Amino acid sequence: MILSGQLTYIVLDTPHILESYRHAKEISFDHFIKLLMIFAGVSKPTRDHLCSTGDGPQNGAAMFRKVINTALFHGQGDNNVSLRYRTLLQDALQPRALLYRRPAITIPGRLSVSNWTMDLMTSMAFNSHLGKTFLDMHPECLDSFRIVAHDAWVLGFDWPINLVSKPHFHRDKIVHALSQYYELPQTQRADQIPFLGEIEGSLRSQGIQTPDIAALTFQMLLAIGGNPPRAAFWLLSHILYDKTLLDQLRAECATAFDKGANEQPDISVLLDQCPKLNAAFQETLRLYTGIISMKRLVNDTTIGGYHLQRGADVLIPYRFVHLNPELWGTDCKTFNCQRFLHNPSFATANFYRPFGGGSSYCSGRNIARQIVLSFVATVITRYNVEVVNGIESQPFPKSDEEAFTFGLLPPAVGQDIEIMVSRRE
Ligand code: HEM
Repeated sequence: MILSGQLTYIVLDTPHILESYRHAKEISFDHFIKLLMIFAGVSKPTRDHLCSTGDGPQNGAAMFRKVINTALFHGQGDNNVSLRYRTLLQDALQPRALLYRRPAITIPGRLSVSNWTMDLMTSMAFNSHLGKTFLDMHPECLDSFRIVAHDAWVLGFDWPINLVSKPHFHRDKIVHALSQYYELPQTQRADQIPFLGEIEGSLRSQGIQTPDIAALTFQMLLAIGGNPPRAAFWLLSHILYDKTLLDQLRAECATAFDKGANEQPDISVLLDQCPKLNAAFQETLRLYTGIISMKRLVNDTTIGGYHLQRGADVLIPYRFVHLNPELWGTDCKTFNCQRFLHNPSFATANFYRPFGGGSSYCSGRNIARQIVLSFVATVITRYNVEVVNGIESQPFPKSDEEAFTFGLLPPAVGQDIEIMVSRRE
């Protein structure tokens, strides 16, 4: 079909989706990584420069992957992103106060689940990479990030500025703040993740100026920080509305806290010995996976016997597959973690693709699971979390079904839950 003047193939059948992954050379995600550079406000000369170097290390898409993958898969010591995230999480979920934004929320305290998950996970993404200096200087960027993350896709289109002024304004605010950060002497940002300094050095040696280094950093933060808050929001929300599930998860997670509820949980126990928690996470990703994955054909190819032409787009509507009653049963639109508990093989099934696949398979999938499980397990173990005035008084939040998103759906505007958080004795 033709979408916005572009020939687009829609791959619906799961065997064909799988076949498309085997054509990673022909069906490329690089075009959309370059589009992300436009979202992020990278200047045209820098985009052209970064995208004109073939498949070499300076190619924009290759560099973007290298930046993230180096930290995710090879990070040792200070470069270990997962450890940095989990340490920050413990700082933010202090037994007496929640320190995810200023002023801290003292316990007992009342808060919004959406603000909490969004601000906490975003500040972890910022702090684990930039160190604490950045948000100390620019705490207002947390609010701006929330607004941009919801509407980032509109930044990729050449629409009249009055239609898209809000996300533009907030993106520019963050990029400007990042530029100020990059102008600081290295000594004042000594707690940034070491690989970021290496990337900065490489970009500067290619003549790339501070505003574009800031925009490229924002692009990276958007990929890293966009989805974990949504996973944390939906998973915690379902637990809050199901007392039986809450009790079962508390019992299951207890062994991960054998050093005490106020200590860091044992991540290997959460990952390998908490089947119900993992099933609830998997079900959350199934139910809230967003609409699409978009790739571009860089060569002609054949899928399922159909000839596909170079230059066209390939669209995979994962949401459609995740909500197919023939695959998931007639209750496919309902949250039911028994589904994965009784059928562990679903988690690796061809028709379950919350992290995409092929040329754009999410490199953050393991760390995403670690941080979301750590967050939820710590919250329910350390605190009593109750919906203000009971669950009957606040309907379960609705997702924004129209959000155009790579990854998970956000809650619709205004959809949230007010909760009371107090210490568990
Ligand atoms: C629950 C959390 C997450 C979800 C649901 C998620 C989902 C996805 C999906 C669906 C894609 C493929 C997009 C497409 O094919 O259209 C993707 C790609 C990607 N994700 Fe994630 N993601 C999550 C967390 C993260 C984190 C925490 C990071 C980094 C620390 C990350 C880094 C990336 C990168 C770099 C890509 C592009 C891969 C490439 O082109 O090589 N993601 N993600």
